[in-house]
Amino acid sequence: MTVKLYVPADAGALSLGAEAVAAAIQKTGTEGGAAVQIVRNGSRGLYWLEPMVEVQTSAGRIAYGPVTPDAVPGLFAAGFLSGGEHPLRLGPVESIPYFKDQQRLTFERVGLIDPVSVEDFRNHGGFAGLMRALDLDGEAIVKAVTDSGLRGRGGAAFPTGIKWKTVLDQAVDQKYVTCNADEGDSGTFADRMLMEGDPLTLVEGMIIAGIAVGATQGFIYARVEYPHAVKTTRAAIAAAYEAGFLGKNVAGSGKRFDLELRVGAGAYICGEETSMLESLEGKRGEVRVRPPLPAIQGLFGKPTIVNNVISLASVPVILAKGADFYRDFGVGRSRGTLPIQLAGNVKRGGLIERAFGMSINSLLYDYGGGSASGRPIRAVQIGGPLGAYIPASQFETALDYEALAGIGALLGHGGVVVFDDTVHMGKMARYALEFCAKESCGKCTPCRIGSTRGTEVMDRILAGVDTERNVDLLSDLCETLLHGSLCGLGGMTPFPVQSALKHFPEDFRHVRN
Ligand SMILES: Cc1cc2nc3c(=O)[nH]c(=O)nc-3n(C[C@H](O)[C@H](O)[C@H](O)COP(=O)(O)O)c2cc1C
Ligand code: SF4
Repeated sequence: MTVKLYVPADAGALSLGAEAVAAAIQKTGTEGGAAVQIVRNGSRGLYWLEPMVEVQTSAGRIAYGPVTPDAVPGLFAAGFLSGGEHPLRLGPVESIPYFKDQQRLTFERVGLIDPVSVEDFRNHGGFAGLMRALDLDGEAIVKAVTDSGLRGRGGAAFPTGIKWKTVLDQAVDQKYVTCNADEGDSGTFADRMLMEGDPLTLVEGMIIAGIAVGATQGFIYARVEYPHAVKTTRAAIAAAYEAGFLGKNVAGSGKRFDLELRVGAGAYICGEETSMLESLEGKRGEVRVRPPLPAIQGLFGKPTIVNNVISLASVPVILAKGADFYRDFGVGRSRGTLPIQLAGNVKRGGLIERAFGMSINSLLYDYGGGSASGRPIRAVQIGGPLGAYIPASQFETALDYEALAGIGALLGHGGVVVFDDTVHMGKMARYALEFCAKESCGKCTPCRIGSTRGTEVMDRILAGVDTERNVDLLSDLCETLLHGSLCGLGGMTPFPVQSALKHFPEDFRHVRN
């Protein structure tokens, strides 16, 4: 009898040796006369246990991890093909507390299915949202998305339904749906994980978006640093065409939707939506002046939906299970679930999808298990390189849009990067300014010039030169960046700088002052 095994082809698992583990299982199985079928799934998001192998047994899927190629003969000897005991045996993934307590809606199938099999996808509820959408008109689909309370997961948290309604209301024959898969924020990997583990959910979300607003063409804009996500998503698109879910007759409905994935050239600013559109048009990634909004004049001047991977991938479950089902998760105006990405100096890094509202403390200690170094956690940065630094005294804050805004921070794309007490916050503040200087598109003066001058001022502060005057100068400059920048790159650079100054002033006082 052939035994089915799952070995992730997720980039994180691959970086930890999953390819060699798959080869060792195949080789040991063949040599021992055991028939094995290896499915290359996505990651379940428990990264400290990768490469995590799951074996399909009569008692369900049993996980082992982290598996090394050297451990494979011992696993066979212990009878792991039928779920045998072994020091690396973890049991069913669903029983591991880190996973068990999650509320996986968007990531329900990630790590569970063969990412490029339409059959596996459908057997696990895939395309149910699309089939429901095909019974509705555009207004009703947009209403469902609006009623669900879904807000953009790319960073700005703008209500997705309102954006779609604007595109729907444009009376032109050509509209587009674009997916922002640039995922440039530090410590974020939810888009990548979804595209590597369940890209058909993204494809489904984009088809629903197209049908809702009357767009027949979609583009996914993926970052060049994600070759595995690009490969898997392209294979999923091809499989969806083959199965008749993409093309001129979506699921036999007579409606058309075509989808193509394009790869950027590698620039943080190409994640900003108007730069992304420029880049998709084949131009240099430079921010456009708004208005007009992309929803009115976007790609090639036509009304365009621009949504993040996770926003679009959250739409199928909203259509399949209803707006109220999704809305019932979360708190206040932060509805639904958020796939949080926990990274940096933390013992158990990974992806945790839960309803909005969990505290930072719970995330860091219940899930993360504290710092990897064993030292006290001094700060976290949430929302990418331009997110605020949050001190331990504010770790009771809830992970929702409003609660974080209330302490001058932001949730962004849900990436949380952990720092222990060896971090120098002055150097981190300098890093933010240098990052802005390097990644600036150059279109507006506060960001183009201000970030470079800011880095120089910070260097003087860190060297202890005329500290007080230079800190005042830096605060002034931050105000200019905040209010005078054309886009969020310059506009948000003050967040890490000002939060570091506010919460960690001791790191800015130098011996020479
Ligand atoms: C400098 C900068 C970088 C950004 N990078 C990304 C990104 O990598 N991915 C993303 O989805 N949104 C990014 N955004 C936000 C987008 O401009 C836009 O708000 C988002 O793609 C809209 O999708 P959503 O409403 O689904 O979040 C960035 C914004 C700025 C200012
Ligand atoms: S803030 Fe920076 S990145 Fe944004 S438009 Fe201005 S120069 Fe370009």
